Amino acid sequence: MKTIFFAYHLFYLTVVNSQSTCDDISFVDRAEWGARKPILKANLPSKSLPFYVIHHSADSSNCYDDASCTKRVQQIQYRHQYGLQWFDIGYHFLIGENGKVYEGRGWNHQAAHSRGWNNDAYGICIIGDFRKASPNEKALNALRSLVDCGVKQGYVKEDYYIITHRQTQPPGYTECPGNGTLDVVSKWPRYCSFQNSRVPLKANETQIYLALNFCEKEFSTSSLATAYLDAPSF
Ligand SMILES: *[C@@H]1O[C@H](CO)[C@@H](O)[C@H](O)[C@H]1NC(C)=O
Ligand SMILES: *[C@@H]1O[C@H](CO)[C@@H](O)[C@H](O)[C@H]1NC(C)=O
Repeated sequence: MKTIFFAYHLFYLTVVNSQSTCDDISFVDRAEWGARKPILKANLPSKSLPFYVIHHSADSSNCYDDASCTKRVQQIQYRHQYGLQWFDIGYHFLIGENGKVYEGRGWNHQAAHSRGWNNDAYGICIIGDFRKASPNEKALNALRSLVDCGVKQGYVKEDYYIITHRQTQPPGYTECPGNGTLDVVSKWPRYCSFQNSRVPLKANETQIYLALNFCEKEFSTSSLATAYLDAPSF
């Protein structure tokens, strides 16, 4: 077992480190999608965050080509800034089923995607309604690459966890990112099954503290070798 573990570990390091994993991402920056200016910008309080929180856009429909994905991103920003009175589009990044990654607030700024988690998590939204169907392979590949990219660039901790919007809030708060997204993401190696339980926090506790404790325990009891075996296909 030990040999297999090291063989795969080496393979993983070689494959992943031999290229910059951000190169395979088609980024669309704010200027390219015609973003409005943020009303305000806030810096993230720490340099390396422990969580990715995955969302879907639900009420703005799926998009498969550049023109319609650009339009969706513009509409989402408009809704967040003018409907909800947020400073800017709520997510750090958005992903279309055209396989492109749209810059929301980007790596350097605090976003508004999951109440109580915005200092500690990057929020990524897959554009579309995934309550039933899962996102297509183009979108999922872009998400995998983006997740790796954040880690490689040091914005995200090496021992990060992936969770979904519904897990960050009390049960029943939201279906986001839809069962179709959860079905896929819950099988990824860094997925953590923490669920905000609605139990009132003690004076010195935060959801983040509870979640980190939970996820650390979950990962220390699961097989390390299995996690690494899954990594290359990730
Ligand atoms: C999503 O899954 C949950 C739990 O399995 C189920 O209760 C719910 O009805 C599902 N939602 C949809 C839209 O299918
Ligand atoms: C809160 O206080 C309790 C009791 O002193 C302690 O066991 C726990 O670790 C503390 N939690 C945090 C987040 O510091």
